[in-house]
Amino acid sequence: MAKKDNLVVGLDIGTTKICAVVGEVTHDGIDVIGIGSHPSRGLRKGVIVNIEATIEAIKRSIEEAELMAGCDILSVYAGISGSHIKGINSHSIVSVKNKLISEKDIERVIDGASAVVMPMDREIIHVVPQEFIVDDQDGVKEPLGMSGAKFEANVHIVTASVSCIQNVIKCANRCGLNVNDVVLNPLASSYATLSDDERELGVVVIDIGGGTTDIAIHVNGSVVHSAVLPLGGNHITNDIAVGLRTPALEAEKIKQKYGCALSSLVNKDDTIDVPSVGGRRSRVLSRQILAEIIEPRLEEIFDLVRQEIIRSGYEDAIASGIVLTGGVSIMDGAPELAEQVFDYPVARSHPRGIGGLIDVVKSPMYATGVGLVLYGNERRQQARMRVRDEGVLIKARDKFKNWFEDIF
Ligand SMILES: Nc1ncnc2c1ncn2[C@@H]1O[C@H](COP(=O)(O)OP(=O)(O)OP(=O)(O)O)[C@@H](O)[C@H]1O
Ligand SMILES: [Mg+2]
Repeated sequence: MAKKDNLVVGLDIGTTKICAVVGEVTHDGIDVIGIGSHPSRGLRKGVIVNIEATIEAIKRSIEEAELMAGCDILSVYAGISGSHIKGINSHSIVSVKNKLISEKDIERVIDGASAVVMPMDREIIHVVPQEFIVDDQDGVKEPLGMSGAKFEANVHIVTASVSCIQNVIKCANRCGLNVNDVVLNPLASSYATLSDDERELGVVVIDIGGGTTDIAIHVNGSVVHSAVLPLGGNHITNDIAVGLRTPALEAEKIKQKYGCALSSLVNKDDTIDVPSVGGRRSRVLSRQILAEIIEPRLEEIFDLVRQEIIRSGYEDAIASGIVLTGGVSIMDGAPELAEQVFDYPVARSHPRGIGGLIDVVKSPMYATGVGLVLYGNERRQQARMRVRDEGVLIKARDKFKNWFEDIF
């Protein structure tokens, strides 16, 4: 198959499905040109617990994506999740030598903020600058070239378990894939679902998948809090299987077809056919009973997210409200229930900010996969700009060198 050097591929290693999204960089953005998705059996609550099963599912999703995109996939931006993820905020101060802030000073101040004490079994996966402070002037986003003597930075640091990161990389490598970056899932989902206005005003992204609920809080345009809760749609399915005494596979089907997160929204006369276990006769039950099983579980998940928002200390800074995404957000009544629990405006969001085959990725389930592509594209652009800036600097230096040599 053809090799293309303008591809950015996101690999979302989820608890219920592994999906690869292929993006092609165009002159005005990025287009989805392929997607592959395969059921995932090697993860529990967002963490890889079976390497061989995960490798098999990655291979299948990559093959499917390659076939659709008509090209080889050599490298990916891989997502990571699980309750081992920890997000903390950090701060540092440096003095500026020539009172003119350079790239080196920015690197120095960010390095200083990243120098946090950590156990040996954890590794930093992201250092996201929140704001710079130049001579007590806060809220600076682009400090390069500014004058000042005292230079400070506030950053958000995300750490993860070393073995969990290594397992993600190992699985991808064993499928012949190079991993460009390991990216926190809620950060990726934010890239696919948020507008700049929402980030500025303050917003919480909640991505509820099969095994985890991923949270990212954005205030003043940057991430201020991130967390992963080990709860998701699989717990709702288990509750339905036990509550309605039906096999897990049937419970999953019933949930997706008839599930409603708010029992008050369900018509009292609606009924559902529920297959029984062990060859017993199926039963006809009220749809309201199903909603009464789903509602308390989803309410519990939202309540834990609410506690996480309070713990972050930013509950008064979320003017835009909540953005719900991930497979569970598709359920009828999910935004309405969230509005009751959080008392913020709630919107359900699917991936945006991308062109090409948008119809195939237009589901909240693909927020992380598409977000990984958008994140990867931004990284690529930043790297190109650095190379270009360095090129300009080297050219200028050589010009000056020749000029001096000519004179002396
Ligand atoms: N229409 C629907 N109604 C209710 N739930 C749904 C619907 N469609 C999908 N889901 C649920 O969404 C979950 C899968 O979502 P998603 O694909 O975002 O998870 P994942 O990325 O595989 O897992 P995770 O992010 O937790 O590791 C499953 O629990 C599934 O039952
Ligand atoms: Mg997911």
